[in-house]
Amino acid sequence: MAQIIDGKLISQQIKDELKEKVAELKANGKEICLAVIQVGNDPASTVYVGNKKKACEYIGIKSLAYEIPEETTEEELLGIIDKLNKDDSVHGILVQLPVPKHINEEKIINAISPSKDVDGFHPASVGALSIGQKGFVSCTPAGVIQLLKRSNIEISGKECVVIGRSNIVGKPMSMLLLRENGTVTICHSRTKDLKEVCKRADILVVAIGKPRMIDASYVKEGATVIDVGIHRDENNKLCGDVDYASVEPVAGAITPVPGGVGPMTIAMLMNNCVEAGLN
Ligand code: GUN
Repeated sequence: MAQIIDGKLISQQIKDELKEKVAELKANGKEICLAVIQVGNDPASTVYVGNKKKACEYIGIKSLAYEIPEETTEEELLGIIDKLNKDDSVHGILVQLPVPKHINEEKIINAISPSKDVDGFHPASVGALSIGQKGFVSCTPAGVIQLLKRSNIEISGKECVVIGRSNIVGKPMSMLLLRENGTVTICHSRTKDLKEVCKRADILVVAIGKPRMIDASYVKEGATVIDVGIHRDENNKLCGDVDYASVEPVAGAITPVPGGVGPMTIAMLMNNCVEAGLN
């Protein structure tokens, strides 16, 4: 029987810790403020943005919502970001991705001041992480580290295998595990003998984007398995990149989907906002 890593519970603990900190700051006259920009009305983005606003409300962070039309030009969006960069009462700026096709995503990410980049997507934030300098860390991989630490799972000296090399999860995840003194291997679509590499892992982080791809044959007995994926299966049931029913009996610890990594992303975003307010 694996230890079930309860992301819902751990994210709630983090949010409650932040709530206390925010109340203290408020008592000292400081109100933390996050600006959230959504261009267009993609339904999934609307749900994510709504959840971010709700978390802000719970913790006591002021949220400024910029819900702007699909037709907004790149120039107009850059203008809003510039204004928010210069506004001292705004501590964090988040542009919900994806943006419409006529807007260059890279340009938008690069326009956000690194000191307000609570998503941790700016090249300066990514660069700082890779050379051990201070900066904001991408929320999902930061959440995975919290799950491990708060579940007393040692990272130092462990074989860590990350499947997936995205800028938002795989790459920063690898850098964070390395920062915690793990021995890190990154796997991707061209990796030969994926199964053999995964079977070496003491900690296996799966962010491939393929429903239930990783079954017990990829997992060493007693390994910690972190599932970053989220999908709806053919029966409309939520599932991850890991075949939970197959892996749970061999893993030492495992995150469920839902209720594992998912809730941690917003908790870490809130943590970044509080840090932004302290700078
Ligand atoms: N779209 C999906 N996930 C994210 C996220 O973490 N941040 C932003 N800005 N957009 C997203």
